[in-house]
Amino acid sequence: LRERLGSRTIALVGLMGAGKTTVGRRLASLLGLPFRDSDVEIEEVSRMTIPELFEAYGEPEFRALEARVVQRLAVEGPQVVGTGGGAYMNGETRERLKSTAVTVWLKADLDTLMERVSRRSNRPLLKTADPRETMRRLIKERYPIYGQADIVIESRNVKREQVASEVAEAV
Ligand code: S3P
Repeated sequence: LRERLGSRTIALVGLMGAGKTTVGRRLASLLGLPFRDSDVEIEEVSRMTIPELFEAYGEPEFRALEARVVQRLAVEGPQVVGTGGGAYMNGETRERLKSTAVTVWLKADLDTLMERVSRRSNRPLLKTADPRETMRRLIKERYPIYGQADIVIESRNVKREQVASEVAEAV
């Protein structure tokens, strides 16, 4: 698999709570590759947390920074990258990932996503009156686009370790 992968990055895409970070870490260790998280890289570059960035500069600035970071990570393989849920919505980023990386959509249903995001409250997009409704809207908007990924893995009811080995097999 390492040979087939060459110097490509494996980029995990999908909504908040899909398990990109957990699965990504596991997958990276299975493959003996480094794992990087685009949100963490953004926090390092800006020296702010994601909520602070949203608060201080707004979402458009965050998106611009995210696009730069993810497009750079796309060409720094071989490695596994967990991308922030909105990164793949940027057309230029998507094209870059399509041409240089293997993209994996971790697909999960509303209940699974809500259960997982409720454990951490660091998502500015979900600070709404009705986070479940917001997530429902994001599913509707984004799933057709995530669907362009090279590989789709249903993460529902599947142990994260299992998801990781499915990805390893599919690449
Ligand atoms: C976002 C997802 C978050 C983070 C930011 C915006 C999104 O990353 O980048 O809060 O637009 O879906 P995770 O998907 O890692 O939670």
